[in-house]
Amino acid sequence: MVKYYEDERIFKLDTPNTTYMIGIVDEEGFIGHIYYGRKLKDAEASYLLRTGEPPFVPGRNNRERCSFYDCFPFEYPTGGVGDYRESCISVKTQGGHMTSMLSYVSHEIFGGKPELEGLPATFADEADCMTLRITCEDRAVGMRVELLYTAFNDTDVITRSTRVINMGSGSFYLTKVFSACIDMDNRDFDMVTLHGSWARERHIQRKSLGYGIQNVSSFRGESSHQDHPFIALTDKNTTQENGEIYAMNFVYSGNFRAQAEVSQFDSVRLSMGIHPEGFCWKLESGECFQTPEVVMVYTDKGFDAMTLSFHRLYKKHLIRGEYRNKKRPILINNWEATYFDFDTQKLLAIAKEASALGIEMLVMDDGWFGNRNSDNCALGDWVVNESKLKGGLKYLVDEVNKLGMKFGIWFEPEMISPDSDLYRAHPDWAIAVPGRTPAQSRQQYVLDLSRREVVEYVYEAVASVLRSANIEYVKWDMNRQLSDIGSAGLAPDRQGELYHRYVLAVYELQGRLIKEFPHLLLENCSGGGARFDPGMLYFGPQIWCSDDTDAIERLEIQEGTALIYPLSTMGAHVSDCPNHAIGRNTPFETRGIVALAGTFGYELDVTKIPDADRKMIPSQVAMYHKYNDLVREGDYYRIASYSSNRSYDCWEVVSCDRTHALVTYVQVLNRPNFKSRRILVKGLDADKRYTVSYVNNKDIEKTSCSGDTLMKAGLLIPNMWGDFKALLIDIEEN
Ligand code: DGJ
Repeated sequence: MVKYYEDERIFKLDTPNTTYMIGIVDEEGFIGHIYYGRKLKDAEASYLLRTGEPPFVPGRNNRERCSFYDCFPFEYPTGGVGDYRESCISVKTQGGHMTSMLSYVSHEIFGGKPELEGLPATFADEADCMTLRITCEDRAVGMRVELLYTAFNDTDVITRSTRVINMGSGSFYLTKVFSACIDMDNRDFDMVTLHGSWARERHIQRKSLGYGIQNVSSFRGESSHQDHPFIALTDKNTTQENGEIYAMNFVYSGNFRAQAEVSQFDSVRLSMGIHPEGFCWKLESGECFQTPEVVMVYTDKGFDAMTLSFHRLYKKHLIRGEYRNKKRPILINNWEATYFDFDTQKLLAIAKEASALGIEMLVMDDGWFGNRNSDNCALGDWVVNESKLKGGLKYLVDEVNKLGMKFGIWFEPEMISPDSDLYRAHPDWAIAVPGRTPAQSRQQYVLDLSRREVVEYVYEAVASVLRSANIEYVKWDMNRQLSDIGSAGLAPDRQGELYHRYVLAVYELQGRLIKEFPHLLLENCSGGGARFDPGMLYFGPQIWCSDDTDAIERLEIQEGTALIYPLSTMGAHVSDCPNHAIGRNTPFETRGIVALAGTFGYELDVTKIPDADRKMIPSQVAMYHKYNDLVREGDYYRIASYSSNRSYDCWEVVSCDRTHALVTYVQVLNRPNFKSRRILVKGLDADKRYTVSYVNNKDIEKTSCSGDTLMKAGLLIPNMWGDFKALLIDIEEN
């Protein structure tokens, strides 16, 4: 619900439990942030803009304009005129000037949500949301800025983005353009972000917010393993179940910055947008620039509630396509099974054994094209290597299909190996700066996707392979980050557009692909989980979470990922031991139970693993079929976190009608002489009675309890013999 209160000059945006309020003040039309928090009944708090306090409003008294700018809670702060906090937008005019200031011009309020040109974004029909578009202007620059807000009716989410239009007769440059900002009072917040590295992505990090600027960012051309486009400010005592959280997540897959700045006056400016470093966009007269979308969630009910808002939004209003509400085929991927050393025979042997065990799809990973027998060549040469795949790709796919299995394939479309026919023919297609040898990473360069002919080549390369056989799944990988930013196709004053144009081209390519192949299951990947973000989820419903498939490391990776993203999006596989990323041995049963919290599949040579492990696969497959609807569609709750207690991990999914729940408990390290542990179940109906059964340990007796008892008094988890043990607990209404 969005409403404008004309007398008060206040916009009030309501979601089921939250209110966001914007005020317009002074004859100069400053647009200020009044409030974001628990739902308010009335639109009346414009005193929170503090225009009654010195230093006076400029229209009435210009004497202290700088002081006014430097403390006013701007909805979209500009720079260079007296607000010395970090701005959201920077321009450089023909005259070389770099200041801007925005004043309110008009607004529109309407049902539904417009698409964002060229960009992924959440969507909803008129019944589910309302949108506010505030138009403001800087006449000195000749710039119009539209601030777009959508308030959802079915979840506590407000989205924001910004569109800049050049209204003047000449061009100007945008050197920074963020998507959203909230200026609010500091309340001794903590800042929560997700930090990581290759093979240990998205670990939760929480620290005290101090004075000055604190940010996380990526300048790597992708959302990255290292920092994540997510930031949250929380109360000091916010827990899973209680406390305030202001969270932002960016629907974008390139450079970003997420930032909190605490000012001298104890205000906080929380902002998010495309990283300004390396960014410079030329805007000709009449042209516009659309920023990516920021998803904002507020709650006073702790992390569980924040997570539920993100999950519900992404499940209903971001993920698209045939598989959005459907069980995904259980796949077996040959990467960790064979690496580059495979041929048709080997793959068919794996498929034959796998299909007999109930696995539903074979995915052929890296190494099927050109002369690629190692990671040092052939990216770009997307021609089937028939000395490996004797009889060709179609033969292999048909044989796999005859086993009753689907077939999937790996691509890394954005890359070019220096040792490839493509590079020999088009060395200028690699991103590079003239006069400097570009840095290789994994012995490869990045294709210059800002060039039309490169995009067309890439699309046809991928699509023609997909047209040649019954391929039902694509793993779209990206194994290096961008460097040496330079395009042979862009004018000198447009080189600063390359990073963003690159991301737009990835979106265009994937958009075209799922349009031509609407039944395709697309899984994104980037050296594991370096491009796990809402932008990519708009195109494919699942993303490879990490190259680390170790069940214990996965506890932290999957906890951090599931803080924002639904379990249905997390690519998770059972792999062989010792684990290839970390060398750890864990029980096969535990690996299965941990992977069950994601899309579920296998990443091993099923013809070679120990017999005892192989024999367990049919029961894991059966568990997947029994529980995947619940895992995919249910509400997710975090009960305990190994990342903080260093001892055990526990999470739960509950069906939306509260009749069925599945609790997963992982005992990381056993403790001698230790009794059973009590855990408090969440999200049940207090008035219903449930049967509690221990799925993978039938020796533990079933019990029957009310939801009330299970949630308040709890459930006992027996101590298990050994380390890395897991227990699945089924809780079903009697
Ligand atoms: C990185 C991915 O994350 C792996 O799963 C695998 O596909 C390799 N790339 C192949 O090069």
